[in-house]
Amino acid sequence: MRRRKFLKYCTGVLGAVYATVLAVPGLGFLLSTLKRGQLKEQKYQLAKLDDLEPGVPQRFSIIDQRVDAWTKYPSGPIGSVWLTKAQDGTITAFSSTCPHLGCVIDYVPGDEEFFCPCHAATFQPDGGTVSGPQLRGMDELKTSLKKVRGEQWVEVEYQKFEPGIAEKKALG
Ligand code: FES
Repeated sequence: MRRRKFLKYCTGVLGAVYATVLAVPGLGFLLSTLKRGQLKEQKYQLAKLDDLEPGVPQRFSIIDQRVDAWTKYPSGPIGSVWLTKAQDGTITAFSSTCPHLGCVIDYVPGDEEFFCPCHAATFQPDGGTVSGPQLRGMDELKTSLKKVRGEQWVEVEYQKFEPGIAEKKALG
């Protein structure tokens, strides 16, 4: 009886050790592939400063290689950004991804506001909310200027943010 109990105990311990040995590398692989699928903040050179018309938002595509948990895709659009140069030359950049549920935000020149066609969210030119179901304004992105061959270029740190919440929380 004691021997049977001991063998049962040994089998249980061996089973637990075996399961751990199998699970640890599998978990590591799963976490690393999920991490690879996340988009980190990255700088993109979008436009020459002199080419931007003051006071008029212009949309620029972000072109990059998309990598998800399992696959590397060829370069293509992964998002877009609204750039505006103020009269004093200050640059603002907003992600065109709607903070409600992620549709692409458009700009309506006549009304001078941003508009998301999916659920009729509207935003001021400074990204603030006017009306609609969104819980926060448009997601502003960091910008900087870089001199390339004597010309000033606008760089944007593109990033994605969690939709549907009031807080601006970066993904990845
Ligand atoms: S996704 Fe833009 S309003 Fe809903």
